[in-house]
Amino acid sequence: MSFKVTLLPGDGIGPEVLSCAVRVLERTAEKCGISISFREALIGGIAYDKTGTPLPQETIDRCKESDAVLLGAVGGKKWDSLPAAQRPEKGLLGIRSALELFANLRPAKIERALRADSPLRADIVEKGIDFVIVRELCGGLYYGERGRDGGDAFDTMAYSEAEVERVARVAFEIAKGRERKKLTSIDKANVLDCSRLWREVVARVAADYPEVEVSNMLVDNAAMQIVRDPSQFDVVLTENMFGDILSDEAAEITGSIGMLPSASLGAGRMGLYEPIHGSAPDIAGKGIANPLGTILSGALLLRHSLGCEEGAALIERAVSAVLESGLRTADLGGDATTVQMEEAVLAQL
Ligand code: IPM
Ligand code: MG
Repeated sequence: MSFKVTLLPGDGIGPEVLSCAVRVLERTAEKCGISISFREALIGGIAYDKTGTPLPQETIDRCKESDAVLLGAVGGKKWDSLPAAQRPEKGLLGIRSALELFANLRPAKIERALRADSPLRADIVEKGIDFVIVRELCGGLYYGERGRDGGDAFDTMAYSEAEVERVARVAFEIAKGRERKKLTSIDKANVLDCSRLWREVVARVAADYPEVEVSNMLVDNAAMQIVRDPSQFDVVLTENMFGDILSDEAAEITGSIGMLPSASLGAGRMGLYEPIHGSAPDIAGKGIANPLGTILSGALLLRHSLGCEEGAALIERAVSAVLESGLRTADLGGDATTVQMEEAVLAQL
């Protein structure tokens, strides 16, 4: 089997961590007897510098022809004063919506070897942290009508039943396949109409999944519960903005935001994979970034877009083994370089 993967290195540490993931994917593909051809395209600040837009049409076309897309990171100080439409982040939002990737999966799982790195109390961590946030990615405040008028500004949140239903189905399917089969839908139904619609649709979809235990939680309470007792969560379903905020919180309690991968999926198999961390301009070019979030994103790519569960599990086991061996990058208080981390993963494979 042969697959096409588009690489979007982007800005900051993006290119450094992405090249590690590519070498890990190449080695894994070889072991699993599949072939992957990689092609790079531009996104973010570097795309703006070279073409005048953070998301050139050529990039969209190339992604659409691919089986999957692997992205590093976008953004940096250099582009911070650009108008919204030209900012690097606009490239990321644009590619998510151009490819209609409406379900963003962000696993928050603590590695056994990293338990001491969690900012949470040991007795809380002991109970385990293993949940996945399913964040709606193509709607809500991020894409609603917005504007400025003199001293006034506005952004709007809007959701249709269809938008809620398609992401809810993804979350229920995931919950159904997990051991605990628990789904917590997070909203602000005591204030927002969008959230009241959200609850209604989730309740309707839930009827098709009697094996899944469903509950609703208000987002402010959820923010508290994630640090109070994260072991209660299995699958978390929420809208775009709440998911953005809660997923950073969830990432942090697992020890390092540098560790976590994400997958953005649509109706088909094609998906976009990226680490949760940003472009970290302060350490870009120093060769000390943690490549594990991107390497693990490569594992998700194998699992969800290329149907290669064997390869995904190989990479995940290799990463756990490297962490058990004690090797750490600077974000985890160690002094291993990006490439040393990559080589250790390759050696485990
Ligand atoms: C994320 C990021 C993006 C988002 C930014 C860079 C636009 O924070 O992927 O979580 O808010 O979606
Ligand atoms: Mg974010």
